[in-house]
Amino acid sequence: MIEIIPSILSADFARLAEEIARVEKAGIRMLHLDIMDGHFVPNITIGPPVVRCIRKATALTLDVHLMIEDPDRHIPSFIEAGADQISVHQEACRHLDRTLRSIRAAGLRAGVVLNPATPLTTLDYVLELVDYVLLMTVNPGFGGQEFIPGMLRKIEQLDRERAARRLDFRIQVDGGVTVENLPELVRAGVDWVVTGSKVFLSPDPAATVAEMQRVAAQAAALRA
Ligand code: DX5
Ligand code: ZN
Repeated sequence: MIEIIPSILSADFARLAEEIARVEKAGIRMLHLDIMDGHFVPNITIGPPVVRCIRKATALTLDVHLMIEDPDRHIPSFIEAGADQISVHQEACRHLDRTLRSIRAAGLRAGVVLNPATPLTTLDYVLELVDYVLLMTVNPGFGGQEFIPGMLRKIEQLDRERAARRLDFRIQVDGGVTVENLPELVRAGVDWVVTGSKVFLSPDPAATVAEMQRVAAQAAALRA
């Protein structure tokens, strides 16, 4: 089953609980939280105190995407704040193997993220250690950017490698997803789809999520 995962980056942060409740109505299971530090990416967003408040406001699986330098320093605070799964950028981790093991050792799902320009081969020796691989389909830092079409080939390659190595990590994408490009993403092998601006800037976020769920399910049925 394909998961549509709203990212609150484009939500109204002064009304977060209401915004989350609006998308929950569509029957989603996960919520994507973008953590930016102004160093690894140009933008700054939220930290553990806000994650802790979100944890109290929802029972959804909290999918924390760390776009920060030196993630090891902050992972314990995000775990303590209530994250259910944490993804770290390959580009930000000096000891990626150790970092991924430490997230799993704490009982969370561990994910690794690649920027668009980073090759899949950088993950050769860690794919056994992850629950999901997040392939950025925009350069991280901002919501509302255009999908980079060349990433479809990257998704297909990762899907093939997963099958060849008989691994069962999920493939996640993040950035520039629309109702229009969703079917080709699903056909390429994506399981988890993060979507921000298209949902929260639409007049009816729950209806937009429901439409994406329908389109994704249809494309997945053809894939099977
Ligand atoms: C971008 C973030 C995304 C962002 C996606 O750096 O990681 O999660 O919210 O937003 P859209 O769907 O607007 O591209
Ligand atoms: Zn993200």
